[in-house]
Amino acid sequence: MTRLAGLDPADLATAARRIMARCDELARVSAADGAITRVYLSPEHARVNALAAEWMREAGMTTRQDAAGNQLGLLPAADPDVPSLMLGSHLDTVIDAGRYDGIVGVLMAIEAVRLLRRRDDAGQWRSTLRFGIEVAAFSDEEGTRFGKALLGSSAVAGTWDNAWWDLEDAGGVSLRDAFREFGLDPSRIGEAARRPGELVGYLEAHIEQGPELDRRGESLAVVSSIASARRFQILVEGESRHAGGTPYDMRRDALLGASESALAVERLCRAEHHIIGTVGQLEAFPGAVNVVPGEARFSLDLRGEFDGARDAVWSGISREIDAIMGRRGLRWQAHEVHSAPAVFCDPLLQDVVREGIVAGTGAKDPVTLFSPAGHDGMALGTVAPVGMLFLRNPDGISHHPAESVSAGDVALGLRALVEAIAHISAEPA
Ligand code: GLV
Ligand code: MN
Ligand code: MN
Repeated sequence: MTRLAGLDPADLATAARRIMARCDELARVSAADGAITRVYLSPEHARVNALAAEWMREAGMTTRQDAAGNQLGLLPAADPDVPSLMLGSHLDTVIDAGRYDGIVGVLMAIEAVRLLRRRDDAGQWRSTLRFGIEVAAFSDEEGTRFGKALLGSSAVAGTWDNAWWDLEDAGGVSLRDAFREFGLDPSRIGEAARRPGELVGYLEAHIEQGPELDRRGESLAVVSSIASARRFQILVEGESRHAGGTPYDMRRDALLGASESALAVERLCRAEHHIIGTVGQLEAFPGAVNVVPGEARFSLDLRGEFDGARDAVWSGISREIDAIMGRRGLRWQAHEVHSAPAVFCDPLLQDVVREGIVAGTGAKDPVTLFSPAGHDGMALGTVAPVGMLFLRNPDGISHHPAESVSAGDVALGLRALVEAIAHISAEPA
């Protein structure tokens, strides 16, 4: 087992305090008063990129914003031409978010750089390892604004799909126009892409976003794989009519069709292992108190450990929705806005994360967890081996203002992350 000399607990505690304070500082950059909402290509996105860039430079990195609005920092190796290890996570949020999802991983990466740097003879900061370290603050993991998630990391993975340019936000602004308003040039998106072999790997620390570590009384876990995901926007069409004058046998109530479908999603997904379906958006039109809803729209977020099982459940849900709509005299159609296959963490990176946890915490047999939550590593998996470290998330509450992580677990996580990185560096190139 590699153990790093010179990882002083006091330095780790100071770094963890700085991370917690910076999470608080970033939480103040929000489009909403009294809540945290920070979406892709917004003024808030620009402000957190500027803050992250300042902190990256302070840690000794050179910085740039890439063609997809990701903020990047680089601590070069002694030989600047060798591939780098990428660390990172995301700075965008869901609506009314917590302050740690993604953010803590970016800030831990910056602190890891601080612990793994040295000055060269010319006084420049260099990595102490056989590779450089690049920190990525990804710009869109959540997909809050355009429905499609992982836009920032997909650009880096070189899997950008030009069909996405026409995606629109709730205000009808296309992704193409949002790029231009942010000061980015859509025609240069390819410049963000990395080639296979260009990165040693991608390593991400993230809060668990579930209760397993908290239930087991453990601080850290190795991630084995990240769930496959599909997202749909579903339109239901019926007929708007008078709420008082329309007898039940004449109603074609789109909201009731959508509601019954949401219940079917729960029933069908609960019956399966590691399949989770969520209807998080539901709207009725025309939205009047005295009108039977003639149209309804709802979202479906469907995840599974394996792509095949997820797709089989989607087929079952589609058949059930067909039956519901048929009984109620409604029409429906689904528009798929996001699809990402399951990603299995690289066995070697799982091992080094495990070694990092052992070295960092003294745990004998670290917990290994599957991640039902999505992460930037899902996109990076096409271009680099991916590893992930989970931090305990008290009560498993996330995507909520009460989301938390303790400074003690952040210090342990940082130690494990740095030990894991040193372990990769000790492997033959
Ligand atoms: C992101 O956090 C997701 O899992 O949707
Ligand atoms: Mn996240
Ligand atoms: Mn999230």
